[in-house]
Amino acid sequence: MTLPAAPRINPSILAADFVNMQADLERIASADYAHVDVMDNHFVPNLTFGPQMVQRIQETSPIPLDVHLMIADPDRWAPDYAELGAASVTFHLEAAADAVALARRLRDVGSRAGVAIKPETPGESLIELFDEFDQILVMTVEPGFGGQGFMPETMPKLRSLVDAARQRGSQIWFQVDGGISDDTIAQAAEAGADTFVAGSAVYGAASVETAIAGLRERARAASLGR
Ligand code: DX5
Ligand code: ZN
Repeated sequence: MTLPAAPRINPSILAADFVNMQADLERIASADYAHVDVMDNHFVPNLTFGPQMVQRIQETSPIPLDVHLMIADPDRWAPDYAELGAASVTFHLEAAADAVALARRLRDVGSRAGVAIKPETPGESLIELFDEFDQILVMTVEPGFGGQGFMPETMPKLRSLVDAARQRGSQIWFQVDGGISDDTIAQAAEAGADTFVAGSAVYGAASVETAIAGLRERARAASLGR
């Protein structure tokens, strides 16, 4: 399977209408992945959906799923999402007991393996682990809710991880999630992000398709200046 080229735009269905999910998935068909925020009310103070709902989203979505697990004990639960066919499964470093073993299990099932870090979590420990993951998600808000403001103070961490990856010839993807909009996407692209999650900026727009194209264009232009 050919993977989509950068810049990738992954709309977050956290901002979709949960009772019109099929229609809201169809509206993002021109994007790269549907970003699915799984929250358990333990790791974050919010609750969304679990494997049964994600299974139906997987069967319904016109584009592959990028599952973001904001849950406790991902070592126990994350492989279920790979098994239901999610193209990518990202768990939080802060929550995992054995991040490397878990990433290997996700890849064994056939999913891309991602690791996420909250705004205050340092990233250096991931540098030696680039080969174990397909994606690093640098959170640009505190995980838990859509519609929050982008935290520019996370950019130096992103930039140093990206530089370390380039120095090592790693092809790992760098995703940002939280507060990504027409006003903030260029900063993240300049810092080296290649994969952009956007919830309210996509579903809150008058035209979802135009919003996706606009974000992609701004990210492309900003990454050229890197
Ligand atoms: C936040 C979620 C995000 C959220 C982003 O915890 O991980 O994916 O949906 O929403 P916006 O783009 O509205 O900040
Ligand atoms: Zn997310």
